[in-house]
Amino acid sequence: MNATTANMTTDTGMELFDTPADKPAQRLFVPGPTDVHPDVLAAQDAPMIGHRSEELESLFGKCTEQLQQLYHTEARVFTVAASGSGMQEAAIRNAVNRRVINFVNGAFSRRWHDVSVGCDKEAILVEVPWCTAIKPAQVEDALQTALAGGRVDAITVVHNETSTGVASPIEAIAASVRRVSPHTLILVDAVSSFSGTKLPFDAWGLDLLLTSSQKALAVPPGLAFAAVSDRLIDGAASLSGRGWYFDFLQLDKYRKRNTTPATPAISLLRALSVQLDRIFAEGIDARYARHAFCAQKTHTWATQHNFGLMAEAGYESPTVTTVENNLGLDIAALNRFLGEREMQISNGYGQYKGKAFRIGHMGEVWPSDLDQLFRAIEEFMAAER
Ligand SMILES: Cc1ncc(COP(=O)(O)O)c(C=O)c1O
Repeated sequence: MNATTANMTTDTGMELFDTPADKPAQRLFVPGPTDVHPDVLAAQDAPMIGHRSEELESLFGKCTEQLQQLYHTEARVFTVAASGSGMQEAAIRNAVNRRVINFVNGAFSRRWHDVSVGCDKEAILVEVPWCTAIKPAQVEDALQTALAGGRVDAITVVHNETSTGVASPIEAIAASVRRVSPHTLILVDAVSSFSGTKLPFDAWGLDLLLTSSQKALAVPPGLAFAAVSDRLIDGAASLSGRGWYFDFLQLDKYRKRNTTPATPAISLLRALSVQLDRIFAEGIDARYARHAFCAQKTHTWATQHNFGLMAEAGYESPTVTTVENNLGLDIAALNRFLGEREMQISNGYGQYKGKAFRIGHMGEVWPSDLDQLFRAIEEFMAAER
């Protein structure tokens, strides 16, 4: 099947993306951590190895090569034992000398601003309403204004705001930054979208694209990743305050030997390796298409049941849908009902608690899993009537 031309259904009305035979029932429809396949969980049971061993280096090297393919890049990919927030901090410490613009349209882009402030940077906050995307024109305006006050070392933007289910147009944003301020580094968070949709690091000319293990990658929490450009690394050499654990120059030195400066999370690397094999066995284009299909299926279900969608039209996330709770469901009660059926969704985030609910359709979620979830929600709604 050509993933880009995949229809929603076959001629006979049968759905594409047949559920794999070894797929356990999906439990988590939250936008991370996501369910992890039993083979991936089992990979963590293997006995320890020395972290300066050839076995570790070959495991690390294999994972890095596969990650480079997923990033669509020839550039370096760092793997560290941390969650996504750790890599947000690493990005700021290694890319920003003094001034950074943080584009904020939800909780996790806001976190990156807080991280920038916490790292003592002059962090310029450009905020747009939650549930809307960051647009290239806003980026150009903000850059032009900030440049009047001096050099802007970097901008930060979150591709997929997990708090609202909005995806910002990264390719166009990156093109705007390069046009207006060619020296400014483009730092992107794809924590909840990486591997669920194509984010070609080289083709889009990004400087840093970070993610973590527990979302669409469907690996247990604890690993963070970043593809990093040469020009970011070159600039980092003259920055002070890079710290030690997240110092990219140090990480780069060890990466060349397929290892890390500090003890790597060996069991998680084993899990990652098995999951990357599973991802490539499915096929990355097929995987992107499955995520797009699941997103569309969720939108269709929500609107057919008279719910609204919170995300700005045209910028809906490929991995998490934020459904407006305009029908006034008791979301806590709904989740208790789903829990009795070993399923779980997420409440709205922050200001949207009770006003919206989020359905994660990333990682190991297949269309048949969504059918089961939707049936259960419909049952709950019928019982509430
Ligand atoms: C878009 C985004 N960025 C950053 C984070 C923080 O990641 P972590 O919880 O792995 O530190 C999250 C967590 O949900 C996220 O969704």
